[in-house]
Amino acid sequence: MKALILVGGYGTRLRPLTLSCPKPLVDFCNKPMILHQIEALVAVGVTEVVLAVNYQPEKMMAFLEKQEKELGIKITTSQEFEPLGTAGPIKLAEKYLNDSEPFFVLNSDVSCDYPFEKMIEFQKETGAGGVLLATPVDDPSKFGVILYDDHGKIESFVEKPKEFISRFINAGIYYLTPGVFDRIELRPTSIEKEVFPQMASEGLLYAMELKGFWADVGQPKDYLAGQTMRLAAFEVNNREMLAHGPGIEGNVLVHAKAIIKSGAVVGPDVVVGEGCVIEEGARVKSATLLKGAHVGAHAYVNKSIVGWASRIGKWARVDNHSVLGEDVSVADEVLVNESIVLPHKGVKSNLATKTIVL
Ligand code: GDD
Ligand code: MG
Repeated sequence: MKALILVGGYGTRLRPLTLSCPKPLVDFCNKPMILHQIEALVAVGVTEVVLAVNYQPEKMMAFLEKQEKELGIKITTSQEFEPLGTAGPIKLAEKYLNDSEPFFVLNSDVSCDYPFEKMIEFQKETGAGGVLLATPVDDPSKFGVILYDDHGKIESFVEKPKEFISRFINAGIYYLTPGVFDRIELRPTSIEKEVFPQMASEGLLYAMELKGFWADVGQPKDYLAGQTMRLAAFEVNNREMLAHGPGIEGNVLVHAKAIIKSGAVVGPDVVVGEGCVIEEGARVKSATLLKGAHVGAHAYVNKSIVGWASRIGKWARVDNHSVLGEDVSVADEVLVNESIVLPHKGVKSNLATKTIVL
């Protein structure tokens, strides 16, 4: 079985992290985002994953070559010379994907407990031309919204609707039959606007409701919200993965090679990456510390992402959806509030309101 992952553009909404690392390789819960998806696909028998990219994928391929060996699968890139949207890349990759069997297509920026096995069964039961996952959200206007009957048959699919239709949206995960190739032309085209509405009107598209959490982790605020949900799911299904003990509050994931000094309090909803150090008396909550980050004594980090090898000084405060790029240093006692700091910058005075440090 085969799968295509829509890897797409430059991940501008996840800057400054994506200035240092292609979006699919940014860690989510201490594992590159795309690896969560690839591992789940391999678990249901996928042997070839095609990555649809529209930029030079060298850095990503260097990483994925190792994974190919470890997982025993083939990973191919299908590179566009102009962005082909969300459907065009499927047509472009037809030569890799089309072996007369259904295949998976995934948006690369979504996270959930991927129910691939159930999607395969559901497609067999319904004979659908395509199955997509549906999940309820609070603000459906940012997504593709679907209406379906009691059997899951989709009656309408509207991308980014202006008026409220339903809370159930397209989760960005599809299981499609090869007939779809004949519905797509090789040009920039949107599966959500051009292919799915047509399939729905012909009664060929089915929705399967996702049980459990779902998150679009393509921008910092949603990334942190997604992390909270992912950790809560670990708490239910893989409790042993989470940290426990003095100084740990709520759901916290700590890499085996990270150090939390005594008197620091970490959590809830924190991921501490490889080689990170949290000094004594520091307070970290609702945050991500990427590989090698250092939080000084008595510093406070809240609702923020701290990039690779960044250093936060003593008594400093990083708060309110701040994102520090790679190798940023925040001086002792300095406040970083609601701000974005690009890689390799030093912050020496307070950023009290929304600022971008270029
Ligand atoms: N290869 C390639 N080429 N990939 C692309 C291109 C392109 O030109 N444009 C977008 N992508 C990839 C993105 O990287 C992402 O993985 C996926 O296609 C969807 O694009 P987004 O830009 O993230 O779309 P969205 O989040 O606004 O909406 C989509 O996702 C929602 C769920 O998160 C739609 O599929 C919605 O219907 C859906 O609800
Ligand atoms: Mg998205």
